[in-house]
Amino acid sequence: MERTLILIKPDSIQRGLIGEITTRFERKGLKLVGMKMMHLNEAILLEHYAHLKDKPFFAGLKKFMRSSPVIAQCWEGVGAVKAVRILCGITNAREADAGSLRGDFAMSPQCNVIHASDSQETAAKEVSRFFKNSELFEYEKTEYMHVYAEDEIQ
Ligand code: PPS
Repeated sequence: MERTLILIKPDSIQRGLIGEITTRFERKGLKLVGMKMMHLNEAILLEHYAHLKDKPFFAGLKKFMRSSPVIAQCWEGVGAVKAVRILCGITNAREADAGSLRGDFAMSPQCNVIHASDSQETAAKEVSRFFKNSELFEYEKTEYMHVYAEDEIQ
């Protein structure tokens, strides 16, 4: 089963969107296996956004991500990385599809309510960046028989 990381960004914390965002993933049928609120420091942001270090918005993005706590969540499911990205919508929220989180709740490529891992490889690195093994939970989700066909989860 795939796992993916999301960060509920400072704009969502300030605008009271934590429940709305979490509900979308729950309703989709994904399983929450880790969640915590945290202040991101410079070190974790430098690592997390290393691929963006030459972008003109890098300093502004780091400042924004430190402007309030974020909530990190780890979601699990079949094809979870892609399924979560589709629920998020594209980075530039102004142009994101209506019905997606960014399409419904944001107007900016920076203040775009949520970060989500973009591939299985990135997800593995990001989950371990934000969670210790002991902070991730294994448990049975009783609704799975109504979320997946039997052969999808064998
Ligand atoms: S994505 O969704 O990660 O593939 O998008 P990407 O285009 O690679 O953007 C990576 C992060 O950079 C932020 N971003 C910006 N911040 C400020 N100004 C501008 N113009 C801008 N463009 C992109 C964007 O919010 C992404 O943050 P994360 O936390 O990865 O979602």
